[in-house]
Formats: sequence, C-alpha cells, structure tokens
Amino acid sequence: MASSVKPPATAPSPASPAAPSAAARKTGASRERRSTHEGFLTHRRMFWAKLSGALALGLTALYIFVPLPGTHFGSSWLGYALGTIGALLILWLTMLGVRKRAITPGRWSLKGWTSAHVYLGLCVTVIGTLHSGFHFGWNVHTLAWALMLIVVASGVFGIWVYATLPRALSANRYDAEGAITERQMVEALRSIDRQIHEAAQPLDPQAAALVGQSLEQNPFGGSLWNRMTGRYPDCATHRAMMDLRALRAARQRTKDDLLGRIDALLARKDAMLDRLRQHLKLKAWLQGWLYVHVPVTFALIAALCAHVVSVFFYW
Ligand code: HEM
Repeated sequence: MASSVKPPATAPSPASPAAPSAAARKTGASRERRSTHEGFLTHRRMFWAKLSGALALGLTALYIFVPLPGTHFGSSWLGYALGTIGALLILWLTMLGVRKRAITPGRWSLKGWTSAHVYLGLCVTVIGTLHSGFHFGWNVHTLAWALMLIVVASGVFGIWVYATLPRALSANRYDAEGAITERQMVEALRSIDRQIHEAAQPLDPQAAALVGQSLEQNPFGGSLWNRMTGRYPDCATHRAMMDLRALRAARQRTKDDLLGRIDALLARKDAMLDRLRQHLKLKAWLQGWLYVHVPVTFALIAALCAHVVSVFFYW
C-alpha cells in the first residue's frame, strides 16, 4: 500500500545545493575564525600580567605594612584610594564592550586592550578585597564584592572556553573527507531527508507514520538544556530508527528490504544530527559565558553605585 509520507520539514530551498561539494570539504573553505586567546594572553611579553601582578603585590604590601584603623578600613585614606582605583578600573574594564566594536590597530590594538582587560580584571579582585578590609556581611557592600567575583570567575571561564573549545569545534567539523561547515551539515540533512522521503513512498501507513516523525523534525529544535548538553533523549529521528528496526525484526524480510534501506538512511541522519548538535553545543558554550559576564557587570555597576551612595549617606 502506498504511504502518505509528508515532505521533510527540512525541505531544500531551490537555491541550496544538495550536499557539500567534494572540493569545499577537502579544502575546508569556510574555516572558522581562529582563536586568538594565546595572542592576547602573551601579548607584549605579558606586559599587562607583570604590571597587574606588581600592582596587586604593591597594594597588598601597603595594606599589610601601613598602620591604619582595624575597623572601617574602607574609610581610611588607603581604603578610599583602593576603592577609587577599583571603581575606576571596573568602569574601564566595562569599556571593552565599546572598544570591541571599534577597529583600530597599533599600541592600543584590541589584542592589547583585551590583554590589559584580562590581567587588570584579575587584579581588581585583589583591590576590591583589600578595599573591603575583609569585612563581609549581608549588605550592599558585600553584594558588590560578590558580583565582582562572579564577573571575574565568568571571565576566567571565558578564557578556558576560548582556549579549549575552538579545537573541539574544528575536530567535530573534520572527518576523513575534510571539513564541513554548519551550513553544509544542514544541507546534508536536507539531502538525506529527500532520500528518505523518496524511499518511503511505497511504505504502508504504519511504517510511513514512523518515518514521518523523523521528516517532521526540526534539526534546530529542543530546549536550552538540550542545546547546552548536546543531549536529545527524545530525538524523533532516533525514535523512528529504533521503532522501524523493531517493526523490521517483527516482519518477514522482503527481497528488496525497503525497511533496511530506510533504516540505513535514518542511521546516517542520526549521525549527522549528532554532529550538528555537538557543533551547536560548542558554539553555545563559546558565546554563552558572555551572557553571565556582561549582565552581571551591569548589576555590579548598579551595586557599586548603591555602595558609594550609601557610604556617603551614612558617613
Ligand atoms: C570586574 C571585572 C570585569 C568587568 C567589569 C568586565 C567586563 C567585561 C565587558 C563589559 C566585556 C565586553 C563584552 C562584550 O561586549 O562582548 C568583557 C569581555 C571580556 N572579558 Fe571581562 N570583565 C571583567 C573581568 C574579566 C576577567 C578577570 C577576565 C579574564 C580572566 C575577563 C575576560 C573577558 C574576555 C575574554 C572578554 C571577551 C573578549 C572578546 O570577546 O574578545 N574579564 N568583560
């Protein structure tokens, strides 16, 4: 009996090629932008690392050796100095968002700016903590300090992400035939869908319904959790493949083994979906940490304003 298998959800647009050309795959023509984390971490022989280290050490020495009142350290001259340096540094660090969007070469290149951002950002932890005089409590002052730590920790995580994930991203894109881009992964899925759709036409309604689950699936669908973990336990293609295998095992084999051919196509689609999802997961982690780093920066600036206002109000 002829089936009523609907056309695939990922039906090709007329302009899109069916599959990656061998040449493009061999050359890896659309190579991802290379990570520059090593560049900015070691920029100018780690000038900013040395300067920030010296600043942190110098200020810690002042904190230890200059005799100052033990209580309300923040309102001593050193406390004010540390608070002012810390607040100005935080405002300057925030300016990276603006600087990133303006391209200028030279001494204050984006690489140099990012290098300073990373090391002075780490130094701010020392400055802010010394400024607190280690007096912590459930108040807006400690809130500002805690938000600063979250911003710094997310920045450190960002460095780790930049250092490790681009390699994993490119390993996922390469196979025996060369590199494949995200677009080519989607094209490949469309091409497999077309083949499944054609092959499934003679299927009976029961088998056609199973195959239809896969064809109606959106390869970009799923929750944020699915995207971040790369795990899709309810994957319609995987389910269709397993159900079709069970059906095939329960039925008598026919000469042309149509179910076997469709099973092979579903297995190819399942593997390509895995690859695309791995790619999307890595991309999400590469960008995702900035969704903590930037909003918490603004919460930090708000808490910092509240901290400064309340200090002068109660003074
Ligand atoms: C209180 C301290 C900090 C503040 C206020 C801050 C703030 C910011 C802001 C506003 C951006 C721009 C994001 C964008 O527009 O895309 C940024 C980017 C960034 N931050 Fe921070 N940050 C701080 C500390 C750190 C630390 C300690 C590190 C690393 C150890 C770090 C690593 C980075 C990196 C790698 C970027 C992205 C650079 C890029 O996309 O090329 N940040 N930060």
